Amino acid sequence: MSEWANRLANIYGSFVATQQARYDAALRRFGEWYGPGQVMVYRVPGRVNLIGEHTDYQQGYVLPVALDKDFVFIARRRDDAQVRLHNMEAALFPPRQFTGFSDIAHAPAGDWENYIKGATQMLWQKAGRPLCGADILVAGAPPHGVPRGAGLSSSSALTVGAAYVLAHLNELPLSPAELAWLCGEAEWYVGTRGGIMDQFIALLGRQGHALFLDCRASGQGPRGIPQFHTMHVPLPRGYNIIVADSKVRHDNIRSDFNVRVAEDRIGVALLKRRFPYVAYLRDLEGMAWADIEPLLPETLSEEELQALGLRLEEIIDVKLPRSGEPFHVRARCRHVVSENARVRASVAALRDGDALRFGQLMNEAHASVRDDYGASRAELEVLIRLAREVDGVVGARLTGAGWGGCIVVLAREGCEADFAAHVAPRYARETGLEPDIFVCHAGDGAGVVGQQVIG
Ligand code: GLA
Repeated sequence: MSEWANRLANIYGSFVATQQARYDAALRRFGEWYGPGQVMVYRVPGRVNLIGEHTDYQQGYVLPVALDKDFVFIARRRDDAQVRLHNMEAALFPPRQFTGFSDIAHAPAGDWENYIKGATQMLWQKAGRPLCGADILVAGAPPHGVPRGAGLSSSSALTVGAAYVLAHLNELPLSPAELAWLCGEAEWYVGTRGGIMDQFIALLGRQGHALFLDCRASGQGPRGIPQFHTMHVPLPRGYNIIVADSKVRHDNIRSDFNVRVAEDRIGVALLKRRFPYVAYLRDLEGMAWADIEPLLPETLSEEELQALGLRLEEIIDVKLPRSGEPFHVRARCRHVVSENARVRASVAALRDGDALRFGQLMNEAHASVRDDYGASRAELEVLIRLAREVDGVVGARLTGAGWGGCIVVLAREGCEADFAAHVAPRYARETGLEPDIFVCHAGDGAGVVGQQVIG
């Protein structure tokens, strides 16, 4: 086997001819667009979160794994500050070009270029000096790419990939964790920032492991960048992680997401009156829920919020949809608090090799995100019910923000075929949608694949 094929086999677990063909096609295309010569090849994965949903933006705990579905970036350093972009799916993501700078003008909302611009601007600001641009080709098409809009973090992977490439080509001395935090900041540029989970797992993923991340900074590093506690947790032997994409896409996920962010913050604002040190729901760790609950109203309308002396504009700086629906403060907070405890318990279960206990925690997490956080929907419920009917499945829950996208399943090794045979046709019959089902091989975070010369 060639050295290159060996490298791909190490990344993807076994030699996969289709991966080789994918890389070859991307290298050829790079040559057609930018000309022959030496290039660097990189990859950056999507992720699936095993447990710890909607906790990261309240400084809680998460436990994601990096997928072996990824973006491939091929890049060559330029002598000027131009960043030129080509995508293998040029019809969907047309070529773009801009100049690297610390204050880059936005493309219209929704343009893929914005993710790269956000990363570029962030690096220019951080470096405090002019950097070199790059000619970049991005390859992320199915089936090897990260499914888009499926809750598997394809947009963060794009931001992280661009940042990784530019940092590497400019020899910026940034650790993966530092880059992850900076990429979280960079996503403000696009206006779609959640917490920091997606960027951390895209950079710190490890084969065969989940990443426990404490989303509360533990201190400041030498470059003034916050530091976070992370720990790689081995996945249970004899089990597989199966991901099933419901194919349901929520049109307005951002506004539902922002409402949840606001509901949590309202809870914090109310609790702060009694416990002044509470700045995030994470600060409730170790307290009895029975002591917290009476301080949080079940629901609160905007008028009631004002009557309590709280103004929505001070709670959240984005416009929320006016649905007339009150804020469900108590249940949202209960989810975040109980979810943090479940992540802790999951890490303990995995360390004890107790997959059944972990599966049970996944199921409990799903009930909580559905009932308390209101982030499920009918199609996901069908998928989860069908998944749990399969012999060998020990846990199933929605993953990512919710309201559509994927479920993640822990199942005994060997039941994948039964899973697909049971779930796919029944799901299609009940919902009219064809699910995509795949086994997730927990992979490594972003990295250099190697150097190549295009003839
Ligand atoms: C989205 C966000 C993440 C996280 C999840 C929910 O994927 O990008 O940061 O908040 O939702 O757990």
